[in-house]
Amino acid sequence: MSQKEYPYAERFGVNRQLPEHGRPRAEITAELNEMAREEDGFWQTGQCSGTMYCGDMEHYAFMTEAFGLYSHVNVLQRDICPSATRFEGEIIAMTLDMLHGDAARVSAGPLTRAGKAAAGGTPCGTVTSGGTESILSAILAYREWAREERGIDRPQMILPETAHAAFEKGAHLFGVEVVPAPIDPVTTQVDLDFVRRAIGPRTAFLVGSACNYGYGTVDPIAGLSELALASGIGLHVDGCLGGFILPWGEALGYDIPVFDFRLPGVTSISADTHKYGYGPKGSSVLCFRSRDLREKLYFLRQHWSGGKYFSPGLAGSRSGGILAATWASMVSLGREGYLRYARAIFATAAAMQEAVRSHSELRILGQPSFCFSFLSDVFDIYHLNDALRTRGWRLNGQQHPNAVHMCVTRPQTKPGVTEAFREDLAHAVAYAKAPTREKPFTGAIYGGLPRDQPEIEAMVRQVMVGLLDAHQDVPAE
Ligand SMILES: Cc1ncc(COP(=O)(O)O)c(C=O)c1O
Repeated sequence: MSQKEYPYAERFGVNRQLPEHGRPRAEITAELNEMAREEDGFWQTGQCSGTMYCGDMEHYAFMTEAFGLYSHVNVLQRDICPSATRFEGEIIAMTLDMLHGDAARVSAGPLTRAGKAAAGGTPCGTVTSGGTESILSAILAYREWAREERGIDRPQMILPETAHAAFEKGAHLFGVEVVPAPIDPVTTQVDLDFVRRAIGPRTAFLVGSACNYGYGTVDPIAGLSELALASGIGLHVDGCLGGFILPWGEALGYDIPVFDFRLPGVTSISADTHKYGYGPKGSSVLCFRSRDLREKLYFLRQHWSGGKYFSPGLAGSRSGGILAATWASMVSLGREGYLRYARAIFATAAAMQEAVRSHSELRILGQPSFCFSFLSDVFDIYHLNDALRTRGWRLNGQQHPNAVHMCVTRPQTKPGVTEAFREDLAHAVAYAKAPTREKPFTGAIYGGLPRDQPEIEAMVRQVMVGLLDAHQDVPAE
């Protein structure tokens, strides 16, 4: 990456070493403000899919205040921050309540402990740094359960093709084998018959999404729950994206299938407070049906020379600021606030889908709600994406098949955004039918990578590595 491309190099220079003398705080905050305000302007138009879930600057300022009071606190040291226990316990309790954790008290679930009766009746959770850490933690817990209680050396998970990439990351890190499960191309839900047949002696757990990132559709969790119960294995429901909004959709009367602890086979659910929980970036909740499973994540060193060490999960030191701000976000909104936000988001998503359906050239995949994906059987959808880009929209690109998705968040619920979407979509459809470029610009970046061409795959890999390097390195002088 050249000095010119390196962000803000020309305006603010590049720090290749610590400045000899500290700079004045006012100068630094002015610089930070300038960059932040410009970058916020990008999504504040309401044209950016996902990622900015709340979008309310007053809410952000309120969370920043809560964060500031505890940012310097390490929550591992509970003797000096008892408040962290209050924040963490209540974040988990409120999340469990939303996901019907009480049902777990009645029904123990499919997991058994070697030599003991079925454990359960103790819904619980842990707060992590985000969806990926929640998923990694769930995989680790099931691996340990499978090894310790079942003696399975190399456990397997049955993973729908639409499940988030974090599952494969966890499988890679923790030596768990993935059995990929195909989806129905029309509903985009996992093929239950395949899952039933794929369950074997090494299966530790099943995965279902509520909802998946790509299509915003919910897997047949009730069916997966039955399979998990019948086989005595776990079922993780990935509610990282939907966990904090689908329950409110159900309460509002939308057709949202049950996906939580009311289903007796569901043994864990991830739900991200930093998405539709409207908390600060860096928090998620991993809920368990039973304490036995959560305990598999605990790391204890009784004889460490540094003293007795015990941590609840993957992280070591954690900032109290994240817990405080997440808690503050949840209690400041309350059920009424979450419902109010969800009402506007579901209505906006329905209106946007209506706009998509008004074009016979476009097809929405499955039966989504707040997040939806569409493709075209008539033209390359990335031509349409190119045209939307030039009008300021940032949808997310998908492949296998090529499609684009819109994950509706609060910034889209502002007046005028749906109308602009309708108008710009019509323009983009017209463009895609008679594009001025042969190959769409955005298609080269996000579009379908051929599966059977290793040279192209290697080239794309190189580009991806180059991007990650560039995101972390200052340019050479
Ligand atoms: C369904 C789903 N699961 C997991 C994740 C991973 O979450 P994170 O990016 O917070 O690690 C995402 C992120 O968008 C998601 O949509």
